[in-house]
Amino acid sequence: MSDTLRGDPVVRVAHAKLNLTLAVLGRRADGYHALHSVMVPVELADRLSLAATSAGGDTLHVDGADCGPAVDNLVLRAIAAARAEARTELGPSVALGPLACRLDKRIPVAAGLAGGSSDAAAAIDGALAAWGIDLPAGARQRAAASVGSDVPFFLAGGWAVVEGRGEVVRPVPSVRGSAPVALLVTPAVPVGTPAVFAAWTAGLRPSGHGAALATSRHLADELLAGMAAHALVVRAGILAHANDLMPASGHVVPGLVALRRGMIRALGTAVGQSGSGPTLWVLYPSLEDASAAADAVRDALADGRIVAPGDGPPAVHVAPLVLDRPAIVPTGSNGSDT
Ligand code: C5P
Repeated sequence: MSDTLRGDPVVRVAHAKLNLTLAVLGRRADGYHALHSVMVPVELADRLSLAATSAGGDTLHVDGADCGPAVDNLVLRAIAAARAEARTELGPSVALGPLACRLDKRIPVAAGLAGGSSDAAAAIDGALAAWGIDLPAGARQRAAASVGSDVPFFLAGGWAVVEGRGEVVRPVPSVRGSAPVALLVTPAVPVGTPAVFAAWTAGLRPSGHGAALATSRHLADELLAGMAAHALVVRAGILAHANDLMPASGHVVPGLVALRRGMIRALGTAVGQSGSGPTLWVLYPSLEDASAAADAVRDALADGRIVAPGDGPPAVHVAPLVLDRPAIVPTGSNGSDT
């Protein structure tokens, strides 16, 4: 960042999310799709720092995964949205100077993990802190929803049932006990969410229509009533089928169905999909179990028992679910977790 920075940067950790369930209820008049989804943050995160500068416009420098202009747009668009809401709430004369941002990118891009949306939520929260102001929850959520459907979930923080097009976020308690650990396998094929929803609209849907919604509602009820971590892991085999976008994603990404089948064979367990994909997931009770599964997937990829679409090998991550903490974690100005 430039030498015109004023004060310490504000740092935010932006976690990825996993859809434990994703029911698509129908296409709305505005072109978006009505959803019912249980979404949880996972310990796979980008890190965004924002510092006030004395001159120029907002800037963004990205390190890490190659992410292209889409991520830049989301962070910078999120700051612009926060600025607009702040001016509406606090008046046009409030000082909201330019911000120099640095994004350390770890979450695979266009992967169904909503990394760009999490960055955007971190940008809204971090920008307000960098300007030394706060906004009512409604104004923060309006800014979030104007940037993207998944952004309100991250700004709310924690586990949630998400409805509407994503803007209706109902927090639910996370599970009790030690955090279940997700094995995440992301083939090297970026997936455009609009293409997957378009395929769903064209008729590529699960045969058991309504099953994902029933599972999603049931999980939401169980979480609201209080659920143990081991009960969630036991339930994971059923949750793995509760994503209405899987047939559409399989159509948009040739080879995704074969990858999922290969993982099912190699791991002997059901395999779920996060969001519109292509990230596939399996839940384990411990880091040891998930790491052993990750090794098994890598071995099977190496000897051809699992074949993944894409130009290179898939990214394989082992990521505990984040329990009882907001999805965006404020950190100290030196970047260490507080
Ligand atoms: O809101 P966001 O910009 O992230 O959405 C990207 C695209 O994904 C939308 O333009 C739309 O095609 C699709 N989408 C949808 N229904 C949703 C969320 C996203 O159809 N609930």
